[in-house]
Amino acid sequence: MKILVIGSGAREHALVWKLKSSTQVDEVFCAPGNAGIAQQATCVAVGVEDVAGLLSFAKEQAIDLTVVGPEVPLMLGIAEAFQKEGLKIFAPSSAAAAIEGSKDLAKALMVRANVPTADYETFEDTAAAVAFVKNKNKPYVVKADGLAAGKGVVVAESVEETVEAIEDMLDRGRFGGAGAKVVVEEVLVGPEVSVLCFTDGKTVRPMVWSQDHKRAYDGDKGPNTGGMGAFSPPKEYSEELQQQILETVLEPIVAQMAKEERTYVGVLYAGLMLTADGPKVLEFNARFGDPETQVVLMRLATDLVDIMLSCIDGSLASQEILWSEKPACGVVLASGGYPGSYEKGLPIAGLRDNPETLDAEDVVVFHAGTKQVDGEVVTAGGRVLTVCAQGDDLSQAVDTAYAALKDISFTGMEYRTDIAKKSL
Ligand code: AMP
Ligand code: GLY
Repeated sequence: MKILVIGSGAREHALVWKLKSSTQVDEVFCAPGNAGIAQQATCVAVGVEDVAGLLSFAKEQAIDLTVVGPEVPLMLGIAEAFQKEGLKIFAPSSAAAAIEGSKDLAKALMVRANVPTADYETFEDTAAAVAFVKNKNKPYVVKADGLAAGKGVVVAESVEETVEAIEDMLDRGRFGGAGAKVVVEEVLVGPEVSVLCFTDGKTVRPMVWSQDHKRAYDGDKGPNTGGMGAFSPPKEYSEELQQQILETVLEPIVAQMAKEERTYVGVLYAGLMLTADGPKVLEFNARFGDPETQVVLMRLATDLVDIMLSCIDGSLASQEILWSEKPACGVVLASGGYPGSYEKGLPIAGLRDNPETLDAEDVVVFHAGTKQVDGEVVTAGGRVLTVCAQGDDLSQAVDTAYAALKDISFTGMEYRTDIAKKSL
């Protein structure tokens, strides 16, 4: 088979690496890819937003299966465009992906499906939003309705901060059109877990759980980022909670979407807070998470092509999905200054070639913002690499990942030293 992966992050490197290990796969292409992906796949210079360009490439090359990493092409309708031409694509339709593209739509779907989530109101009018908050007289979470690259959420600590966030979005256009409508929701407390699942629109099969680290610095301090590291499984995992999340969150939302002509096929990502009143949804994403995917796919023991095809064919219920018992940890190496401004083009020393499948060392280094220039790999983005390792237990996985990253260096390299610490 010929596979096309769309995207250029460490998530897509992990997808390429996993798909390449399938005995059914002859050739993998990646658009646009990065320096690490280029070692395993043929990189194609077509951007993720160029749906027409991606489609014509897939037709020309007679690609058998296309796999989409990031959200933007989903919202642009890449799934429909490929399906119309009879091409197989592992991606939800734009109508289904709207569960990530509009927080207001996601909340309304959850209410109709009776899925537990924070109480909320949606506003387009500043005066009404401010009056609501002042009347309640407590801080709220303010969320831009549309896509804001993971930055559109303010968890306010005071009424003033809540009002400030509302005004920033509605009056001062902080997130442009994405913030022209805001969801104002109650503040929840508890540990957060990421539960990704495969679905064919009827059956839901959860993946092993993971936990992201969104803040830039140790101890969950500093600004929000795309994610500074992840591990699997978090200590909160239990079979009972898994069953509860399946029955109260994942199955009802997928069933509701099918009922509303938004049938969801692909990977659905539930960001959950485990509150004293049970698991509640913080957000849904219409795709694999980054950096969660890097550690989750390390633990996948079944051929990913088979799973993806079963989602597309509607036969997920009878598809075997096996996971490794061994925990995994991934640490993101970022450019100095990220998530603010940072320098690019800095040479990276100490990179290793990845094993085709996991070997005794249990280490894989997934590239994100990297580029090959004159035979040298240099930095090309904020998140540069995710160094991942598996271990017999979580502490071994963590130690192995941190030991492996010691070989790697570039000027200004930053990383968190406490990935997975809360579960150790
Ligand atoms: P989201 O993009 O919706 O996941 O929000 C980003 C982060 O904001 C989440 O990972 C949480 O840490 C936090 N957050 C979102 N919604 C809430 C909420 N209702 N209560 C507390 N924290 C929240
Ligand atoms: N790690 C969070 C996300 O992918 O949105």
